[in-house]
Amino acid sequence: MNFELNEEHLMIQKAARDFAQNELLPGVIERDEHQKFPKEQVKKLGELGFLGMMVDPKYGGGGMDCISYVLAMEEISKVDASASVVMSVNNSLVCWGLETFGNEEQKQKYLIPLAKGEIIGAFCLSEPEAGSDATSQRTTAIDMGDHYLLNGTKNWITNGNTASVYLVMAQTDVKKGHKGINALIVEKGMPGFVVGPKENKMGIRGSDTHSLMFTDVKVPKENRIGEDGFGFKFAMKTLSGGRIGIASQALGIASGAYELAVKYAKQRKAFGTEIANHQAIQFKLADMATEIEAARLLCLKAAWLKDQHLDYDLASSMAKLFSSKVAMDTTIEAVQVHGGYGYVKEYHVERLMRDAKITQLYEGTSEIQKIVISRFILKG
Ligand code: CAA
Repeated sequence: MNFELNEEHLMIQKAARDFAQNELLPGVIERDEHQKFPKEQVKKLGELGFLGMMVDPKYGGGGMDCISYVLAMEEISKVDASASVVMSVNNSLVCWGLETFGNEEQKQKYLIPLAKGEIIGAFCLSEPEAGSDATSQRTTAIDMGDHYLLNGTKNWITNGNTASVYLVMAQTDVKKGHKGINALIVEKGMPGFVVGPKENKMGIRGSDTHSLMFTDVKVPKENRIGEDGFGFKFAMKTLSGGRIGIASQALGIASGAYELAVKYAKQRKAFGTEIANHQAIQFKLADMATEIEAARLLCLKAAWLKDQHLDYDLASSMAKLFSSKVAMDTTIEAVQVHGGYGYVKEYHVERLMRDAKITQLYEGTSEIQKIVISRFILKG
């Protein structure tokens, strides 16, 4: 067993850290306050290869491993989780889904610009009445011969307005249940496709979350991913990798808050000394550091399994379940270490605390991860 990162990993980690400090930190408070999408910053992330990190270079990607992706996600998320969710969705849901299950034409047409970050993608599974219960899709895609007629509404779609390409799950044959679901590539601008208003969220406020409405949208048959009826498995397989991305986002939010707490504790004086000298603070920092390290190991293990082409479904759910709890617990404690200053925007930890909550909700709630994990435990 080797816990050492190689030269390339360290280089990518440093590049992501520098980018976060130099490009994301300035303006992050204002973007959060005004719900401003980090457009310029996401463009630069694309130019640096962070939006298609694991894609084969022949399709415009960086050809990196999943460990590199975890390291980069952690660094970006320490500073701006609104930017890192764009990165996570584009890398692990959209690019990975297309590269793994798309055909050559789809890769040439969609994957290449997505991996280069020239355009952004979205993954559309959730519906007003099908969130956790993802098999109950109400959006329909009726087979009309050379095209599908798409009707329905999708909710909580990350990159909802910014995306150009949407991977949409829809029910083609209701009698077949989850085996009647297809994944379709829908382009922005297809007649009948309307983007709803932006959600006014508690956290990750810079990210672009919308509902989408489809009314008689004609989606060409060649835009279906995989065989007829493969859509639900496509979504589940893709989400398994996506959960590594969100687990790493949670890890980054936690470690960002922890680093701020350590820095503050060494500066702030109370009762005649720096608060870091008080055991009440030391105990908090020790708990945070230990839990973050455990979360990091779970994220890296899931990534390693994926890199080895081993089964990572269990590991990714465990990583997401644990890291998102650590993100929540750590950010609450980081606010506590900061006292009243933690409650105001300038010190960043209140934002990280609000951002942390989403990691327990999207790409499967914590309860969904427990369902996945317990099924693994009980089946054997
Ligand atoms: N890989 C391959 N196939 C899988 C799979 C996986 N990881 N998980 C399930 N399946 C297959 C099953 O084998 C089964 O197929 P068969 O009938 O052929 O055996 C089929 O899918 C249905 O599986 P289940 O019977 O287990 O389905 P279920 O209804 O009990 O639900 C669930 C399973 C795990 C709860 C699933 O519904 C789920 O993951 N829900 C959460 C959905 C989710 O994560 N949504 C996130 C939205 S995207 C998002 O948030 C992105 C963003 O914006 C950031």
